[in-house]
Amino acid sequence: MSVGIVGVGSYLPHKILTNFDLEKMVDTSNEWIRTRTGISERRIVDDDVNISDIAVEAAKKALLNAGLEIKDIDLIILATCSPEMVMPSTSCLVQKKLGAKTIPAFDMLAGCTGLIYAITTGAQFIETGMYKKVLVIGADALSRHLDWTDRATCVLFGDGAGAVVLGEVEDGYGILSNYLAATGAGAELLRIPAGGSGMPATEESFEKKLHCIQMSGGEVFKFASRALPQATKAVLKRANLTLADVKYIIPHQANIRILETAAKKLGVDFNKLIKNIDKYGNTSTASIAIALDELQRANKIHEGDILLLVGFGAGLTWGANVIKWGGNKKNR
Ligand code: UT7
Repeated sequence: MSVGIVGVGSYLPHKILTNFDLEKMVDTSNEWIRTRTGISERRIVDDDVNISDIAVEAAKKALLNAGLEIKDIDLIILATCSPEMVMPSTSCLVQKKLGAKTIPAFDMLAGCTGLIYAITTGAQFIETGMYKKVLVIGADALSRHLDWTDRATCVLFGDGAGAVVLGEVEDGYGILSNYLAATGAGAELLRIPAGGSGMPATEESFEKKLHCIQMSGGEVFKFASRALPQATKAVLKRANLTLADVKYIIPHQANIRILETAAKKLGVDFNKLIKNIDKYGNTSTASIAIALDELQRANKIHEGDILLLVGFGAGLTWGANVIKWGGNKKNR
């Protein structure tokens, strides 16, 4: 059976935080942020909005795009790095808000690679015949985990959500190959140390800002610049395709220079890589689905196009999916 993306949607909070706003908050400059990261502005959720809210908005758009209703969905997988709380899973909060009755729902914690892991996982349930339609969401509000006095991290991230609906497609279409990888050896390079059972919230953890993102930027940069081309090559090999077959590479948006380095290493035209980091910063698990949704809404993806989704992030994790777009039996 072939499994593909039959619907896609995204949601960005309306509040914009520009580099110029950040200049007033920390010792940074629009010039530094733009040239070192490619980011001009990012979106931030309002205080009374949670990631289940933005996840629901993205999910509704993906369902609409698929021509489906929540009653048609058999499973929800929500990838995130900023779960609304430790327990219950954010996916269960989303399930309730979407009005689903008892369909299973679980969270996928795989760093910024979460969407790739979740798409790969969701597809397996359809391929085995267990479920017909799976809703996969990537949603993050990492603004809630930023130390707004740390210029090395607070300029990088933004909030957002993206979603895809997976379902059966015509033979030859859909997901052609997957590639997943992880190395816990790099776990300390990118993390939020406190808030879990290993370091519950205490006055000390709060004072030391251990509930905020800590990142060894240079090390993660080097890892990402290696992981992106490696996953790209590996997933293409599994699909028996080459870069020449690919219409668009849709990478996780962490830093424009990572994408430049990766494109050079792959020897691929930089235009083949989709970029929207300038507007949204690093939206973590949401970034790939947001970029995919924007491409689709701009009518830039056509039946039969080969898309390569590729992510990397905390864990360390990395991975990719190759998808032949279209072949939707009902809706496209
Ligand atoms: O989605 C998860 C994956 N995350 C990533 O892929 C992020 C990967 N890492 C990066 O994107 C980059 O390493 C950063 C953007 C985080 C940092 O860029 P960099 O070119 O590696 O800068 P750096 O850390 O080597 O810092 C260079 C200088 C330092 O000053 P000195 O020591 O040379 O005087 C920093 O203190 O830039 C300084 N700096 C800043 N200056 C102005 C760091 N952050 C800022 C800032 N504004 N916001």
